[in-house]
Formats: sequence, C-alpha cells, structure tokens
Amino acid sequence: MAVVTKTTEKLGITLTEALHSFGRFCFPKFAKKYPNLVTPYKNPKEFLKSVHSMVHIEVKKLYRDAEPPDFFYKEPADNRLIIEYSSKRKLCHFMEGLIDGVADYFKSPIKYKQTSCTLNGNKTCEFDLTFS
Ligand code: HEM
Repeated sequence: MAVVTKTTEKLGITLTEALHSFGRFCFPKFAKKYPNLVTPYKNPKEFLKSVHSMVHIEVKKLYRDAEPPDFFYKEPADNRLIIEYSSKRKLCHFMEGLIDGVADYFKSPIKYKQTSCTLNGNKTCEFDLTFS
C-alpha cells in the first residue's frame, strides 16, 4: 500500500486505478518467481481455481505472517467461474488487476464483472468471470 499510495500522489491517479495497475504488474512477477505454481496449468480457469487451495497455501508456508485472502468458488458453466473474495484489507481492485494479469499471461481473454463489493456494504466481493 505504501508503494501504491506514493504512486497515486506522483501520477495524480485514483487509488482504484493504481491498485488495478499494480495487480496487473504483479502477476507476471509472481509467475516468474514461482513458476511451479503456474506452469502446471494450461488455461486461466484451472489456474484460478488453484489459487485458494494451492498457491496461497504455499505462500503461507513460505511467509508465515502472510495473510492471503479467502476465496470461495462456484462454477455455473464450463466457461464461467464465480469467485467470492473476502479479506479485511478490501483489495478487490488489486484482485481485478491480478485477473487481467492472469489473462495476459495465458494469452486468453477473461471477461469479468464485480457483482457485489464490500466497499459498497456487501458482505463479500463477488467476481463473475467468463472465459473465451
Ligand atoms: C503465483 C501466483 C501468486 C502468488 C505467488 C501470490 C502470492 C501472494 C502474496 C505473497 C500475497 C501477500 C499476502 C500477505 O502479505 O499477507 C498475496 C495477496 C493477494 N493475492 Fe495472491 N498470489 C498469486 C496469485 C493470485 C491471483 C491469481 C489472485 C487473484 C485472482 C490473487 C489474489 C490476491 C489478493 C487479492 C491479495 C491481497 C491480499 C488481501 O486481499 O488481503 N493472488 N498473494
């Protein structure tokens, strides 16, 4: 947050824009640093389904004080994935940027809309994703 806040001041952009861009910027760095967590997956949906039960579990083993968010998944269709995101940090705009970073990485577009948001008083943030 220190890096992102400084950036908003320097560039005159909103916190939402900065968090989104920072997420998109971060994903390729994560994928480069931890290739074994990403390369087993051939498409973005299978990878995203592994983030809660695999990626962030490994992160917790490496960094004991890390507090990755909670995800709950629903699969209403083969080409869709609903991710319910909860975190006391309320970083859903960072999450959106990460999703864009995943689409870039797999060279496979992901359309998504956020159907609920804790910043608007909802209990969780819900992302409804459609894969091509
Ligand atoms: C190889 C891939 C990934 C790695 C290594 C990784 C690692 C991490 C790490 C180290 C943190 C910081 C935790 C802390 O300091 O408490 C974090 C936070 C976070 N990660 Fe991941 N992550 C990956 C992929 C993803 C993806 C694809 C998403 C979203 C779809 C995601 C969503 C988030 C969010 C939203 C946070 C912010 C923490 C919060 O909301 O409270 N991550 N991740």
